[in-house]
Amino acid sequence: MTDRLPRLNSRLQGLGTTVFATMSALAEATGSVNLGQGFPDYDGPPEVLEAAQEAIASGHNQYPPGRGILPLRRAVAEHHRQRYGLEFDPEREVLVTAGATEALAGAILALCEVGDEVVMFEPYYDAYPALAAMAGASHRVVTLRPPRWDFDPTELRRAVTARTRLIIVNSPHNPTGKVFTDAELAQIASLCVERDLIAITDEVYEHLVFEGTHRPLATFEGMRDRTVTISSAGKTFSVTGWKVGWACASSDLLQAVLTAKQFLTFAGGTPFQHAVATALGMGDSAAEAVCKDLRWRRDRFCDGLRELGFAVLEPASGYFAMTDVSATGGVDATSFCAEAPRRFGVVAIPADVFFDHKAPAAGLVRWAYCKTTATLDEALRRLAGRAESS
Ligand SMILES: Cc1ncc(COP(=O)(O)O)c(C=O)c1O
Repeated sequence: MTDRLPRLNSRLQGLGTTVFATMSALAEATGSVNLGQGFPDYDGPPEVLEAAQEAIASGHNQYPPGRGILPLRRAVAEHHRQRYGLEFDPEREVLVTAGATEALAGAILALCEVGDEVVMFEPYYDAYPALAAMAGASHRVVTLRPPRWDFDPTELRRAVTARTRLIIVNSPHNPTGKVFTDAELAQIASLCVERDLIAITDEVYEHLVFEGTHRPLATFEGMRDRTVTISSAGKTFSVTGWKVGWACASSDLLQAVLTAKQFLTFAGGTPFQHAVATALGMGDSAAEAVCKDLRWRRDRFCDGLRELGFAVLEPASGYFAMTDVSATGGVDATSFCAEAPRRFGVVAIPADVFFDHKAPAAGLVRWAYCKTTATLDEALRRLAGRAESS
């Protein structure tokens, strides 16, 4: 039967998410410490978890409205107003989705025609090329180059053609941790205005910034009405399994996203929507505690890797650190990650799965440090064995 699968399906199988599944299975089979997938192995703030339990106990257990419950839409609008000075009407310009992923899917399916092109930066979050392909569009990449992960503005200009419809900007960025600077965002914004492009921004790490300042692309001149601003609660409150996300945009763009979204999940996660409304209503304190704690984990893990002789590209935000294994051992990242579970009992991801152009990624390995101290220390202890045995 599988030889009759559409070609698109085979293409999607080469992308990161399926690589994570393979690596996670390998982690289980070998008893490895799994630093492959980006989710915390600890819980979010207790007051946020209690809000979900309360919502279930109070009977918020049936379908929510398609746009999401109004208290959450109000909380999202208020969050954007207070934090970034961005005004969105909760009735018409905010849409609650099944995680940021569904907001991305809805936006790309709503706004792309078959044959259109979508510009994105590589390394990319693997859903972007997959969703573009599902919409019948193709993608073009602009490479972020280590160690600063900056891009060549000429390459960005060249990536935009007469067929370009969308540009996707993920800042703070997975997997590099780059926080795009105001100057870089201003360049992207002026190109969008000049070439009449729609921007989709993925800001799921907006609260997990350790260095630099996150500024939404929608705050730049000419961008408010041509940007779909996407985020979610999963990273902000360490509740990735809740899958509550949102998209904010001018009412005409948002209506288009809603039109696609209603045939994806229609709606979901009623008690979690209530809990996230409560969590956002608590102000910045819960999110700040999550960020401070994660920064500590980043430092502990990156320091530990450096002590073991790894060349670490320290992230300014988010869940992941990269190392360049070619700089220290002469091996490529794919071989390193393929051997790591059996040799050291640790799973990490070769970063080339996030690139179209494999060369800049040849030595890069991605490690998730959003893990308990015990998990991180055990991974470092096992990798120390690597230093002795290699
Ligand atoms: C850049 C980026 N966007 C979107 C998502 C998915 O977010 P959600 O779980 O809210 O769908 C992730 C999750 O890892 C991510 O890293």
